[in-house]
Formats: sequence, C-alpha cells, structure tokens
Amino acid sequence: MKKNKIIAVFGTRPEAIKMAPLVLKLKNNPAVELKICITAQHRQMLDQVLEFFEITPDFDLDLMKANQSLNQLASRILTSFDQLLEQEQPDWIFVHGDTTTSSMCALSAFHRGVKVAHVEAGLRTYMKHSPFPEEINRQITGRIADLHFSPTQSSQENLLKEGVAEKSILITGNTVIDALHLAVKKLSDGYIDEEIRLLKSIITPGKKLITVTGHRRENFGDGFDRICNSIKKLSQIPDVEVIFPVHLNPNVQKPVNEILSGITNIHLIAPLAYPAFVYLMQYSHIILTDSGGVQEEAPSLGKPVLVMRENTERPEAVEAGTVKLVGTDPDMIYENVLNLMTNAAEYEKMSTAYNPYGDGQAVERINELFD
Ligand code: UD1
Ligand code: UDP
Repeated sequence: MKKNKIIAVFGTRPEAIKMAPLVLKLKNNPAVELKICITAQHRQMLDQVLEFFEITPDFDLDLMKANQSLNQLASRILTSFDQLLEQEQPDWIFVHGDTTTSSMCALSAFHRGVKVAHVEAGLRTYMKHSPFPEEINRQITGRIADLHFSPTQSSQENLLKEGVAEKSILITGNTVIDALHLAVKKLSDGYIDEEIRLLKSIITPGKKLITVTGHRRENFGDGFDRICNSIKKLSQIPDVEVIFPVHLNPNVQKPVNEILSGITNIHLIAPLAYPAFVYLMQYSHIILTDSGGVQEEAPSLGKPVLVMRENTERPEAVEAGTVKLVGTDPDMIYENVLNLMTNAAEYEKMSTAYNPYGDGQAVERINELFD
C-alpha cells in the first residue's frame, strides 16, 4: 500500500503546542510518511515547545526576523516553503489555525496542487480587522483546504454556511486539550524544571494570583497602554500578586516594561515553556488575557478568564459563563477583576470546570482518517 506523504508545517508557539500531539501520533502511523517542517516564524518561543514535546523537525526554514512585517514574513514563507514542496512532493500538508505560516503555506500548497488539511478550522468573527490578521488568515486557509478539522459544532456550522462540503469537515475537538492533558499528566507525575522552581519561589500562598498574557496586534499602541495601566491599578488591591510572562514581540515588550517595571507585586517574566505555563494557570486565581489558546485551556482547569478583546471567535466558553469579554477599557478590566475578588458567588460561577473545546481525543480522530 502506498503511504500518504504528509508534511506538517507550523511556525509559532500556539501552532506548535496544538500540532505537537498530532505529529507525535502521525509519526507512529504506519500508513503515513510524516515530515515536520517549521517556518520558525517564532524562534525562541517555538523552540521551547519543541523541546518539551521532544520533537525534532526534518526541515527548519528559520525565517524569523526581529520586528518582522507581515508582508515580509509572508513573502519569505511563500518562497521558502515553495522550494520545499518542489523538493519533497508531498500528497498533503497539515497546517494549523490562523497564522501567516498557515495561510501562506496553504497558498503555496494550492499553487503546487498539494492537498491541504486544516487543523482548528472554521473559527470566525466575520470582522476583517479583529482579530487582525488572523480572521482573514483563517478565511484564506478555509477557502483552500481540502479537509477541515473543526474543534466544535459551531466552527463546523460556520464552514457549512460558507458552502464548504459537509463530507470534507470532521468535528474533532481542539488538539489543545490533547496537549493540555499531556502537560497536566506530566506535572501530576512530578515533572519539575527551572521555570517551575522560579514560579514556586514567586507564588505566595494566601495571595490572589492574577496571570496576565497579551500579544494581539489590534491592541498594540493605545490598547496595550490601557491594559498596562489597569494592571498597575489592580496591583494596588490588597493581597494581589501579578505574574506576567511577556510575549517577545517588541510591540508588547516596550509598553509592558515601560509601564509595569519596578512594581513589587508585579512579576514580569520571560515567556514560559508549556509545562510551567500550565502550572501557572493551575495556581492562578484569575487569568487576564487576549490569547486564543488560553481561552480554550483555562475553562478545563476551572479558572475564570477575562478576555481583553471586544469579540471572540471562541464563543463556547463565553456562552457557558466561564470566560467573559472585558475589552481594553481600564474601568471595565478593573471592575470585573474586583467583582471576581469580592463576589464569591460570581467567582464560583466562573470557575466551574467546563470543557467545550475537546475531550483530549482530537488527534485520535484525525489519525484514524489516515489509517
Ligand atoms: C504571531 C501570529 C498570531 C499568533 C501569535 C502567537 C501572525 C501574523 N501572528 O503573532 O496569529 O496568535 O503569533 O503568539 O501570524 N519574537 C521573538 N521571538 C519569538 C517570537 C517572536 O523575538 O520567539 C518577536 C520578533 O521580533 C518577531 C515579533 O516578535 O518579529 C513578532 O512575531 P510574529 O510571529 O510576526 O507575530 P506575533 O505577534 O508573535
Ligand atoms: N503559553 C505558554 N507560555 C507562556 C504563555 C502562553 O506556553 O508564557 C501557551 C498557552 O498555554 C497557550 C499558548 O501558549 O497554549 C497560547 O499562545 P499565544 O497566546 O501566544 O497565542 P494564541 O493562542 O493567542 O494564538
């Protein structure tokens, strides 16, 4: 029997976390010849994930440049990945989600007549500039893909409304839950590393820990200034401790360091490798974020999430009440955090563990299609 020749290609931290369980599974599928390509749209934050999951890529395009522009990055990906497609002649490429890596690799594959499977397919806001550029990256990849792995029923419904053939869509759950289960299991088996030791030394029992992450382009500038100023105000609430692993994008580093450095109970730290970040979420009282992946993971861990965005392509946990959109208005952020700190019933309601994004079996379902 001829094996399916697949190249799984990804480039950023969240894609790597969500593709890791899938590539580990496909590697052991005798009907598949799998090659792993990283664009390295991210460098350090990608390598952290590869190291934890013990993944060695077959091809490293090594494309990240400091403070890269979207068009420069997109053109480098198109050119480099095209050369790889010409050399390797795969039957399929697998891409993930919403990044410049996924949309440009999908486009290169389309130009070369190579089939595309899209993991985490069908998430939409239908707002061109929010999230930017992810909404349009998703729509580009969605138009091109031959197979769509939708995490939830509502993401499948979006694709059906757009005229995608039902037989090309499989509802799988989100592979992030598969990844989260791997990390939680490892932590409960006693896994420890330097970053977890650092967190243990910062986290003070009895204090209310707020974990913050942020990186969205539509929040750059005024949005980030407002976010940072509200965190500064939050840090004045008695017994609050803030841990903020700061994304390496210079547009994030600058305002965060300028506004939040030197405050005793705000800990600005480097991006954490996946197990340490999962550990941090487990010990958090509240999570304040604009991240997509964190919105999916935290409800499983029973942690209330306040999302610093005006809208979300992940409505499921908002509808269930464990995630709330608070935008970037400082008063909204402050009042919502304070409410969670002081209103036990509200806290209880938002911290009920709820798992709308998957059951940890997404990669099994995808793998079965290629058996
Ligand atoms: C990218 C994705 C976004 C995803 C996010 C996850 C695009 C357009 N954006 O945004 O969809 O949600 O990743 O984090 O695809 N940098 C480093 N080291 C790293 C990573 C980034 O130094 O390991 C710095 C570099 O200066 C780089 C800049 O951050 O140029 C921006 O990286 P880029 O991937 O273009 O955008 P992100 O904002 O990270
Ligand atoms: N994450 C991590 N270390 C950190 C912050 C986040 O490993 O310091 C993980 C987090 O658990 C989630 C993913 O990175 O799985 C989210 O990445 P990001 O917020 O950069 O991107 P998004 O999900 O918004 O695309």
